[in-house]
Amino acid sequence: MLKISRVNKQYGSNHVLNNVSLDLMANETIVILGPSGCGKTTLLKLVSGMEMPDSGTIGIGGVSVQKPSTDIAFILQNFGLLPWKTNLHNVALGLKIKGIDRKTRNRIACQHLSNLGLEGREKDYPAVLSGGEQQRVAIARAYASDPKLLLMDEPFSSLDAITRESLQDTLLESWRTLSIPYLLVTHSVEEAVYLGQRILILADHPSEVKKNYENPGFASPDYRQSNDYYELVRLIRKDMGELW
Ligand SMILES: Nc1ncnc2c1ncn2[C@@H]1O[C@H](COP(=O)(O)OP(=O)(O)OP(=O)(O)O)[C@@H](O)[C@H]1O
Ligand SMILES: [Mg+2]
Repeated sequence: MLKISRVNKQYGSNHVLNNVSLDLMANETIVILGPSGCGKTTLLKLVSGMEMPDSGTIGIGGVSVQKPSTDIAFILQNFGLLPWKTNLHNVALGLKIKGIDRKTRNRIACQHLSNLGLEGREKDYPAVLSGGEQQRVAIARAYASDPKLLLMDEPFSSLDAITRESLQDTLLESWRTLSIPYLLVTHSVEEAVYLGQRILILADHPSEVKKNYENPGFASPDYRQSNDYYELVRLIRKDMGELW
């Protein structure tokens, strides 16, 4: 459903992405790993339509991405919640942009907040929530607009380990029920193996897709405790040691 073909991106003389290609199937999840500054955020911005490639193409469902659209939800590292709006109104924002009436959008937003365990927090403002709760509001908002694709840039990096694992489970649960594919960037190998049906490594200068791992055990019960999980984590760590 997402097709990135031979994309190049340069900022002045800084050639960041070199002939990056990637295919994401409907309902698939891909996680991208790579050293700091290799262009992971840049790649997500290109897919979101916030920025344009210098050459190459990016298409979603066969339609070229030219500008941001409500088909693509982007969860930023700092959650991107509007501090002056309540949680309910933050979640309903995308629906408002789509022109959905107030009653319907509030109903849908309440449902998504409740799915993420935030029933009763609708009228609170983001500032009074914990980091993990704010991130759940951001996830609820992303899903509420019923996107075709979800982009996430290190969505759990500022959270403690327990909250982080619990939100990883929440994300997988939402993926199971709503079947919306996602592209997620992280620096954590464990997170990549837990959340990615496929895992890509972006590296070098300019960056290219250096590795592409299949993850057959993805989303199986108790995957975090399995040998397959540990073996893939170990393999990726070893390869990363050789790449940077
Ligand atoms: N708007 C911009 N103007 C100029 N240079 C930019 C711009 N955005 C990013 N860059 C440069 O492009 C390179 C890639 O940046 P990017 O943010 O994509 O890296 P990243 O892989 O997400 O890194 P990190 O893991 O630290 O988040 C960096 O060298 C950065 O300085
Ligand atoms: Mg980044």
